[in-house]
Amino acid sequence: MEKILVFDTTLRDGEQSPGASMTTHEKVRVAQELELLGVDVIEAGFPISSPQEFESVVAVTQAVQRPIIAALARATNGDIDRAATSLAAAAHPRIHIFLATSDLHLERKLKITRDEALRRIEKSVARGRNLIEDIEFSCEDATRTDPDFLCKAIQVAIDAGATTINLPDTVGYADPTDIASMLQQVHATCKIPESVVFSVHCHNDLGLAVANSLSGIENGARQVECTLNGIGERAGNASLEEIVMSLKVLPRYNQRFTTGIVPELLCPASEMLAHVTGMRPQPNKAIVGANAFAHEAGIHQDGLLKDRRTYEIMTPEMVGARGTRLVLGKHSGRHALVRRYAELGYDLSTAEVDRAYELFILLADKKKVVHDEDLLAIYFEGTMEDAPRAFKLEFLDVRCGRSPSEAVVRISHNGGPVKEATATGDGPIDAAFSAIEELCPWEIRLEEFQIKAAGGGRDAVGEVHLELRVGGNPFSGRAASLDVVDAATRAFLNALDKADHARGLEARAFARMDLWAV
Ligand code: KIV
Ligand code: ZN
Repeated sequence: MEKILVFDTTLRDGEQSPGASMTTHEKVRVAQELELLGVDVIEAGFPISSPQEFESVVAVTQAVQRPIIAALARATNGDIDRAATSLAAAAHPRIHIFLATSDLHLERKLKITRDEALRRIEKSVARGRNLIEDIEFSCEDATRTDPDFLCKAIQVAIDAGATTINLPDTVGYADPTDIASMLQQVHATCKIPESVVFSVHCHNDLGLAVANSLSGIENGARQVECTLNGIGERAGNASLEEIVMSLKVLPRYNQRFTTGIVPELLCPASEMLAHVTGMRPQPNKAIVGANAFAHEAGIHQDGLLKDRRTYEIMTPEMVGARGTRLVLGKHSGRHALVRRYAELGYDLSTAEVDRAYELFILLADKKKVVHDEDLLAIYFEGTMEDAPRAFKLEFLDVRCGRSPSEAVVRISHNGGPVKEATATGDGPIDAAFSAIEELCPWEIRLEEFQIKAAGGGRDAVGEVHLELRVGGNPFSGRAASLDVVDAATRAFLNALDKADHARGLEARAFARMDLWAV
């Protein structure tokens, strides 16, 4: 088996993603997660670009020991020296020097000739090599570079002491055949010592970054550059989790290649990054998206219940995902419905299934997803759509900006007396939720919380959607308001209204059963 080195650039190219900037502390947390995940190289930043970036690279070198830590530098003395200084504490330092090689970049951006570019490559790689043993050289815009000149540039970098040669598809303009022919020509033309590693670095402008990276591996690259969740400039970089799982799942690759990545940590690492940056991968994102293991179509659900392999090419457990989710919606079949009722502890007779399925389909036509609370309501009588509003928010006041935040909440239940509670929390929303919990006799756990601005202005309405587990059963709540704390509090109470309704239904059903028993 040949080992493919995983070079993670989440902290450098990934951070260049609009909205993904991280503090030094956050970068250290991500770097520690990447170390656990098993990446071989962490590109920690571009030290010359700002004092904070320099400081982040230093902090990462101090916090992480096993992987190589790379620092990016342009082909100039100042950049290279700054990168070397930032890496002083690294157990395994690497300077990553880059210079564009395409005529477009040379003529229009750098305004230098090809010969000048070759001189700069020679000088900068040699300078780097004097400071640090491990030097990576990248021919920026390699895929749009004249192939003969690309080979010349690579040869100059190798002769000057580069230990890794990286060929970026900087603007995502290549397809897998282009990557294959580029690498084949380079290998046929250049004199390459065995110790030199070839690398690919693909951007996703046409959605081909992972396919291109795999083509790179097929054609001799032994390092892939990628990011968690595929974040990065514009449409992003090749996604680490997709490359790793392609190599692991597809027989074409898994007989020949391996990586040091612990696949079970892919989803936890993705979640951690989403938490730090506030950028969640889209639900249909491969491997780590919320729907990556969710099935709604009846035929699929039926197949899965018979043999998971019918519609799953890998299990959620393999990548540390939460588990296969059979989402109940208008495409779901009776089998999935019966199974979900069984999971909730209800064993339905054939007549009950007929009735429940009829109501379920009516409801699923109106709602995107049918939740467990709806199933409970369907089972007992109507639907949860019209759960009466049992809890009324009479007063809400929060104090935030200081730690901890504080909330005063007054609510009434079914027109009864108004009760008040004061609680503290990590932020005003947490404090408000804690105050409500104090007023409720039930055991409540917040399982999911999403907040979305409807509109782009300062006065945008905040929409909150959350999932609670109340006494072991799941209930969703939704609300919108100009004030996000108010929206969150109302969404919390909306879920409690449904819990209250479900309890009432259950109690009435039990009462009827008692009657029958008599
Ligand atoms: O995309 C690119 O060309 C880069 C280089 C700096 C490696 O990110
Ligand atoms: Zn890049």
